[in-house]
Amino acid sequence: MKESSIQISVQIFPDFTTLESPDALLLEAAHTAALHAYAPYSNFRVGAAVRLSNGQILTGSNQENASFPAGICAERVTLSAASATYPGMAVTDLALTYINKSGNSGRPISPCGICRQTLVEYEQRFGQSIRLILGGISGEIYIILRATDLLPFAFSSQELKPV
Ligand code: THU
Repeated sequence: MKESSIQISVQIFPDFTTLESPDALLLEAAHTAALHAYAPYSNFRVGAAVRLSNGQILTGSNQENASFPAGICAERVTLSAASATYPGMAVTDLALTYINKSGNSGRPISPCGICRQTLVEYEQRFGQSIRLILGGISGEIYIILRATDLLPFAFSSQELKPV
């Protein structure tokens, strides 16, 4: 038996004002997107913004449904829009923010499990890591250099290949 461990690294910024301006811009775009969420059931509005390799920014928000599982997270709305609108173009960064039921967000959230799976496949498709910028309206901001760090031992298309 041998044991190994996996480490991930997180850059922690004390608040929004300490971010580099391209990161602040992307997080701001995510915040505006959160205002456009359709979240009448959870009242938890999530916004995502991606930067494509050509510098273009696209945004999306969570879109819920009375049939709850039909709802889609902000990250997957945004990545699907990116893939459908700019096929073949890699995503380099994704900012994620939210507004809770009370209209606040004082700490970062990170992508749910399904969104992590989607992000990892996006990274693998393009051979391009996606840098995550996670933060609320106030409080600390986390930057994680690649989505894969959030999903070690991920299932991937590699597994579907016959051996
Ligand atoms: N949600 C997202 O949009 N992204 C996540 O990573 C976590 C959760 C949405 C789904 C649902 O509409 C609401 O937040 C509450 O779970």
